[in-house]
This record gives sequence, C-alpha cells and structure tokens, in this order.
Amino acid sequence: MSVTVIVGSQWGDEGKGKVVDILSERYDIVVRYQGGANAGHTVLVGDKQYILHLIPSGILRENVKCVIGNGVVIDPKALLDEINILENLGINIKGRLFISQNAHLIMPYHKLLDSISESGSSKIGTTGRGIGPCYIDKYARKGIKIVDLLDKSVLEEKIKLNIEEKNNLLRKVYNHEEINVNEIIKEYIEFDKAIDQYITDVPLFLNNAIEEGKSVLLEGAQGTLLDVDHGTYPFVTSSNPTSGGACTGSGIPPTKIDSVIGIVKAYTTRVGLGPFPTELTDKEGDKLREVGAEYGATTGRPRRCGWFDAFLVNYSRMINGIERAAITKLDVLSNLDEIKVCVAYEINGKKLKSYPTEVNQLLLVKPVYETLPSWKSDISKIKYYDDLPSEAKDYLTFISQQSGFEISMISVGPQRQQTIEL
Ligand code: GDP
Ligand code: IMO
Ligand code: MG
Repeated sequence: MSVTVIVGSQWGDEGKGKVVDILSERYDIVVRYQGGANAGHTVLVGDKQYILHLIPSGILRENVKCVIGNGVVIDPKALLDEINILENLGINIKGRLFISQNAHLIMPYHKLLDSISESGSSKIGTTGRGIGPCYIDKYARKGIKIVDLLDKSVLEEKIKLNIEEKNNLLRKVYNHEEINVNEIIKEYIEFDKAIDQYITDVPLFLNNAIEEGKSVLLEGAQGTLLDVDHGTYPFVTSSNPTSGGACTGSGIPPTKIDSVIGIVKAYTTRVGLGPFPTELTDKEGDKLREVGAEYGATTGRPRRCGWFDAFLVNYSRMINGIERAAITKLDVLSNLDEIKVCVAYEINGKKLKSYPTEVNQLLLVKPVYETLPSWKSDISKIKYYDDLPSEAKDYLTFISQQSGFEISMISVGPQRQQTIEL
C-alpha cells in the first residue's frame, strides 16, 4: 500500500507512535497532518525511550523523510526542543524534516489563553499546549503561519495586530496583565533562523513523491472520539484526527489514499474530562492503569481506564473507513479474572442503533457487556499468532467481529520486537 493513513480509534494514546515506528521501516515518508504538541507518541528502541510531540514517529528510521503538514499547529519552542533532544540522542534531522509553509504557529498568548480558559467554568481538561486558541485564530483568519516567519516586516505587523487584540481581551475580559509585543517579536525572529531550513511546499513535495512511486504513511494524532466534528464535543481537541483530516492537513487528495489502518487499544483509556461509558472507577481500573502504565506522555496525568468498547470502535471504523486494525497492549489484559467487552449501549432498556456523540446522551447510556475469559499467562514474548493462548485468540476474534475490521497487527509490549504481524 503506497499511501496509508494511521488513525487513533478511541480517545488517543492507542499506541500510534509504536505502530508508526514499526510500519515506517516500509515507507519513504511519514507525515503528521493535525494537532500539535498536545500529542505524545512513545517509541521504545532497546533501553531508549523517545516521546515525539510534533515530529513524526518515522524519524527513528534513518531512511525515512518526515513531514509536518499544514494541518498541524506548531509551537516553535516545542519543535526546537524536540529537534535538540533527538539530535543529542544521535538522530539526524537535517535534510529529513520538511515543514509546510501553511502550518500555523502557536504563540505564547495561545498557551496563556488555553490556561485562562481551563481555569474557568467550561473546563475540557486540555493539555495546556495552546491548541484550541491557535485553531481559533486560524479559523478566524487571524493566525500567523510558518510562511510569515520568512518576512520580518509581515511577521512584526501580524504579531502586533494579534497582540493588540489579545491585550484588549486580557485587560477587559480577564483582568490579566498585558503581553509584551517586543519580546515575542524577538523570540519569533530567532525561531525563524532555526526553522527556515525546513520550510517546504509540502503539497507539491508529497504529490511529486507519490507520482514517483514513493510510499507515504500519514500519522494521525489524538483519536476519533477527540475529533472536533465526530468526537464527544465539546470534550474534544480542536482538529480532525479522523482520516478525512489526513487530506486537508497534508494536501494529499482523497483519490491518492490507498488504505486506513486503525490503531485500537485492547481496552479503553481517556485523559481529560468528558463522558466515558465503559470507564472503571474501581480497583479494576486502577489495575489497568498500573499494568498498562497509563500516564500521559505529554502531561503525565493518570489516564482514565475502562473496558474495550466495540460499539465505539465500530463507529470509529465507519467514520475513518478502517479495514485493518493494529491491536495494541493486549499483554495488559493478561491475568485478569475475566474481561468485559461493551457490545451495545442502552438507554431506558432500549438499544441504540447508532453511536451518540452528544454528551448528554452519553451520560445516560448503559453499556451492554459480554464477558470473556482471560488468559493466565505472560504473552509479551510471543512472536506468532498461533502461539497465543486460545482465550487471547478468542478475545481478538470477538473484538474484531464486533468492531467490523480485520486485525493485521497485534502488539504485546512496547518494544519493536513485541509485535505479531498477521
Ligand atoms: P500514542 O499517543 O497513541 O502514540 O500512545 P502513547 O505513546 O501516548 O501511549 C501508549 C503507551 O503504551 C506508551 O507508553 C507505549 O510505549 C506503550 N505501548 C505501546 N504498545 C504497547 C503494548 O503493546 N503493550 C504495552 N504494555 N505497552 C505498549
Ligand atoms: P496522542 O496523539 C490523549 C485530549 C486532552 C483533552 C482534549 C483537548 O498522544 O494520542 P487539547 O490540548 O488538544 O486542547 O485537549 O484532548 N488530548 C489527548 N488525549 N492523547 C492525545 O494525543 C491527546 N491530545 C489531546 O486530554 O481532553
Ligand atoms: Mg499519546
């Protein structure tokens, strides 16, 4: 498959980083198409752990080129820190990283407005990375783009205009001290010197590469239920992690996409606020969190944990067009007494026909569970499907049938070699 989209099928943190790292060995180019440094994609290689926030998870394969598309919102400080960390770990970035001139820049006031908004009554539980406020400016047509870094006078003028408006808001609405324009202008001119070399006409670069027969992997961040259009709004992020976002966020047309792979965690997690029908708020949830090391890769927050929700993943399959899935963290379910899988939602004893994304409905739903036996053995060293315990195979068959896709990969641990391909 030459152009493949990877999407998170639940509420993020499904293990996209690990799967993209594995698959990118077979691809020429890996592209991030939305989100920003709210993402935390973990890749483990031996005893080294890499947490990627903005740079695609293909960066650890030296023959792979990495692209940050127009749909991404870039915090230049976070980007330069990430480049620094990777270079110090011996990863070569120069000549391998390409950044769209049309990607929007996260400004210090975006992070400030994110934190002010989170301290009010309409809390979402954001990552505090300025994501929402940056996308607000993008859609209000006030945003500052990567291309603006190239012309100092344009950059200065845009920053001044934006800060004038933000200072008004800070002073009059939030009773907050004003932001210093000159410091920010100075800071962003410095960023330009470091970022210039990566700026590229990304749609042209990608479409030419596809014409030449190169293969492209598009790496979604977050997950389907965090999508601003298809997720559990307002408890979502401000972009489109779903497969449709891969086109708008990169400049690759839909006719060039060959396949969509869903990354599906063998249970469910969520960070931040919002409804979560299969959440376990008891000791079983704590056990999943501890065994699965479910703490945020970006913020360190404990992740909320719960049973696998096939009704939700089936919705995700429909929205994204997922045909094949990589099931991750199957090892975490070993040694449980029994495993539950949600197969439907009920309200007042009536089964719902379609997935309700409205929060008020989701708060009313009662998950309908089927119970499956667990396997009482360590599966983290198993390399072949046939060697899995029969209960694990039955679990996989059950969730794939209920969710409506085929399984093409099973991950049984965070390391590259802890992967079973089918
Ligand atoms: P992403 O945001 O989707 O890339 O996922 P994160 O990196 O935020 O969270 C996934 C976590 O699970 C990371 O700590 C991974 O190292 C880890 N992980 C990935 N696959 C597996 C697996 O199959 N088993 C276990 N135990 N851990 C895994
Ligand atoms: P990866 O790519 C899990 C969640 C936040 C919050 C909501 C809005 O690692 O899977 P934002 O900062 O985007 O405005 O926060 O979205 N969120 C994530 N949850 N994984 C992520 O990324 C997330 N990125 C944002 O916790 O609930
Ligand atoms: Mg993550």
